[in-house]
Amino acid sequence: MISTDIDLVNPDNYLERVPHHWFTELRRSEPVMWHGEPEPNRGFWAVTRYRDIEEVLRDTQTFSSASGVTLEEQTPEEVEARRSMIDMDPPRHTRLRRLVSKHFTRSAVAQYEGFVREQARLVLDRALPKGEIDFVEEVSRELPIRVLARIMGVPEQDLPMCIELGDAMIAHADPEYSRAVIDKEDTSAYRLLPFRSPAAVELMAYGHQLAAERRREPREDLVTKLVHAEIDGERLSEREFDNFFCLLIVAGNETTRHAISHGMLALMEHRDEWRRLREDPGMVPLATEEILRWGTPTMHFRRTARRDTELGGKQIREGDKVVVWFVSGNRDEEVFPDADRFDVGRDPNPHMTFGSGGPHVCLGMHLARLEVLVMFQELLPRLKDVELTGPVERLRSNFINGIKHMPLRLSLA
Ligand code: HEM
Repeated sequence: MISTDIDLVNPDNYLERVPHHWFTELRRSEPVMWHGEPEPNRGFWAVTRYRDIEEVLRDTQTFSSASGVTLEEQTPEEVEARRSMIDMDPPRHTRLRRLVSKHFTRSAVAQYEGFVREQARLVLDRALPKGEIDFVEEVSRELPIRVLARIMGVPEQDLPMCIELGDAMIAHADPEYSRAVIDKEDTSAYRLLPFRSPAAVELMAYGHQLAAERRREPREDLVTKLVHAEIDGERLSEREFDNFFCLLIVAGNETTRHAISHGMLALMEHRDEWRRLREDPGMVPLATEEILRWGTPTMHFRRTARRDTELGGKQIREGDKVVVWFVSGNRDEEVFPDADRFDVGRDPNPHMTFGSGGPHVCLGMHLARLEVLVMFQELLPRLKDVELTGPVERLRSNFINGIKHMPLRLSLA
């Protein structure tokens, strides 16, 4: 009998830790399970095994992104107003993704390495000598937005505002960041905005201003590319640009930050693994993959069944929500031997932190990898020891596995 207390929806259940014990139980006993939800949502299939998750992500004919990719059930009007490429199926998705994909290939990203390293050093030079820091505020949250801003063409002085607005959007269930806590307040006035968040209005207004500047004066950046881009002879509409801009700011910022924080925490909690890395810095690329598997910053995404089908022995009906839990697939014992062990030498490590093979596989995965890799290559040789001086505070979210605060005392090498 499966435990009756399993509740993957309530964001409070992620405040202390990811409820891995439930995911383990689900993988073993009911890997595709119908999960109820509070009104007005109707419930969803929770898919927790690696192979089933892969199947869902790859089969876009059966499992569609076009009705939204988060748990929230949206009306067709809401989906349409908020749509960006992440909530589209091929071929429309393919055309939109092609507009930007060239900037994020492995070889394009390799060219940013010098810049990423320079920024990582800058961040560390400023933060580490302070001795006692909130690692999230001073280190992990600084790097991703700087890199993204450079690619998109956002001026440096506007970065703090972009961080704040991006946080307010994606962390919409956490009262520290959100201006309208999604499961506690009436957010209907914001239902046509990404993440149902009022912060999106400001981020879009900022995007408009930047777009207008780039229309007048084109530069070598992504915003210039987007405002001049054409799909089938047509420019992106204002709404399409807005949603694209918000998607990039949100997707590229928080997730990578949390990966860096999870990496630091995991190394503090597994001192033997840290020692292995110290003795053999050539292992940092493998450690980066393990940090990404261990941290899994995006815990799930959703699809909607387009037709009746079968998955993991269960009958799925057309219109049902199907939610794939990367955070569970990444601990699937059938794919990862000793899956609950943090092993900086794990090889192979086919984690699904960025999705797995489907057309939506993370656009920014090479960039995120590079940022985590460079940060740890720069950080580890500078540290002799680190200890926590207070509690690690986690984000209130069932979607993002996030660390908000991590107070540390550092001794430098
Ligand atoms: C550790 C950091 C990151 C994690 C964990 C992450 C995770 C993901 C996941 C799970 C998906 C959906 C995959 C699927 O449905 O198959 C995704 C899509 C996406 N990611 Fe990331 N991501 C990260 C960093 C980034 C960065 C740096 C960017 C920079 C722009 C980015 C931009 C996007 C975009 C635009 C999509 C939508 C792609 C599409 O619909 O075709 N992500 N990401």
